[in-house]
Amino acid sequence: LAITTYQAESATVSNGLVESNHAGYTGSGFVNYDNETGSHVEFSVTAAAAGPATLSFRYANGTTTNRPMTIAVNGTTATTNLAFPGTGAWSTWRTATTTVTLAAGTNRVRATATTSNGGPNVDKLDV
Ligand code: GCU
Ligand code: CA
Ligand code: CA
Repeated sequence: LAITTYQAESATVSNGLVESNHAGYTGSGFVNYDNETGSHVEFSVTAAAAGPATLSFRYANGTTTNRPMTIAVNGTTATTNLAFPGTGAWSTWRTATTTVTLAAGTNRVRATATTSNGGPNVDKLDV
């Protein structure tokens, strides 16, 4: 099954900034979520057919505090408080994975910070 990569820096960002000041990202940078509840990134994800899909978010969290995010698909919560634990450094990237149901065609996949720390830095989404 082919994996498609969606770069965070090409997605729609609400209350965050595209940056490139921490090494190890792919593409041209990453999104630095504003450190507040509700900041989010929305990816436009294409599915050939309706059904389950594994979402893999590549992220860095240089703190020791989890930065959970809720994952919504087409406006409906799919995963509540997906964990984005500390990675040890802002230049150390790991993946957080969840399985959701996609519709055939274009899907809005939104990752929203649920604590006042905001989200982690997000590099990309692999589907
Ligand atoms: C640091 C880091 C940012 C990060 C921020 C945070 O400022 O350089 O990349 O987003 O911490 O705590 O969210
Ligand atoms: Ca931040
Ligand atoms: Ca990137």
